[in-house]
Amino acid sequence: MTIEGDSGDYDLLSAWSDKIAKRFAKKPAILTAEIGVRKGLGSKLIMNYVRGAYKNAHFHIGIDPYGDLKYEHYDKGEAVTMDYNQKMLSELKKDFAEEKRFTLFNTTDEHFMDKYFWGVEFFDEGKQYLINEYALVHFDGPHKTSDVLVEAVFFAKRSAPGSVFIFDDWKTYKSSVVRDCMREFGFEFISNGQRKMVMERKDG
Ligand SMILES: C[S@@+](CC[C@H](N)C(=O)[O-])C[C@H]1O[C@@H](n2cnc3c(N)ncnc32)[C@H](O)[C@@H]1O
Repeated sequence: MTIEGDSGDYDLLSAWSDKIAKRFAKKPAILTAEIGVRKGLGSKLIMNYVRGAYKNAHFHIGIDPYGDLKYEHYDKGEAVTMDYNQKMLSELKKDFAEEKRFTLFNTTDEHFMDKYFWGVEFFDEGKQYLINEYALVHFDGPHKTSDVLVEAVFFAKRSAPGSVFIFDDWKTYKSSVVRDCMREFGFEFISNGQRKMVMERKDG
């Protein structure tokens, strides 16, 4: 399988990955995440662009259950099964087999948030890391307002001044509610592309 995306505005994801890499250049380690990985283009671009400019330990995680789940993708409409199946997961694992410091959490957003409340542990080049701060998050899993809100609050509590959140398919849910909520955590609205909304934490 080739590493593909199913959305647009990937240039925004690349540009912001490059920006946060430069912004956090002096940190010894940074963590980025994508919720909803599918065939991997979002994660691939985040890794390529962060690592083009950031020379310390960059860890990237993907969170995706695959597994032919039947669920409500949007605020309105029936629960449906898409093509996010085990075959796609195996292909993704093959395509990303050589990626350093990439971890796929083959689970739902909800389960990840329960299990990794206190942070994610990594081992790399003789060092052990426990990181609970995210420099950039791409929200591209479920597109129900309530789901995106819960995810956004979880990761906002684990952000730092300068962290960037990118919300895919912002037109498909009540993104104004997400924007207002994120303001309470110090995030400012930066821009809306056709598909992706960018917010940045400006306090501190
Ligand atoms: C729109 S696709 C992601 C597209 C991908 N980010 C890209 O740029 O091509 C949505 C993905 O979210 C995953 N997903 C569904 N429910 C999820 C959940 N509860 N938590 C995390 N991911 C979920 C699906 O398995 C699917 O792979």
